[in-house]
Amino acid sequence: MKEQYEKLEELLDYYSDNYNNINSDQEAIKQLLHETQEIFDYLPADALQKISDKLDIKLSALSAFIKLIPQLKGENFKHKLTVCSGPRCGAKGGATILNAVEKELNVKPGKVTKDGTFLLVTQNCLKKCKTSPNIKIDEDIYHNVTVQNIPDIIKKYKK
Ligand code: FES
Repeated sequence: MKEQYEKLEELLDYYSDNYNNINSDQEAIKQLLHETQEIFDYLPADALQKISDKLDIKLSALSAFIKLIPQLKGENFKHKLTVCSGPRCGAKGGATILNAVEKELNVKPGKVTKDGTFLLVTQNCLKKCKTSPNIKIDEDIYHNVTVQNIPDIIKKYKK
């Protein structure tokens, strides 16, 4: 497992050294996804998160390629839960919120829950700083989130 992630790091170093703006080169992104899949046999969510962080490619763009190209296999999940890791949410207890979500779902960022329901990710600012701390599930944003109301929010998506 560790070896696979080391290989991914090497691959990402290569792409970051050789492409100034990979977002303008769709072929390079497709190639990168194929090469990542060769390492893992599929495209795990946390590998996609690492690609996104290192090369500044939006996760949604990576997902779009996976949907488009039949040979690429993404990880299945029903809902994406995003916890804001931006500074304003951080100042209002964002780290505590992330901890509480991790505990509630029993999963770390970049991973899918065992039952395949949630992918947990973090994002640096959901652009709703005035109502921080915020989390997002799919396209629904929840404002002024507290540790206490996290279970209720999550429960709605479990059915
Ligand atoms: S820092 Fe969380 S929404 Fe901006």
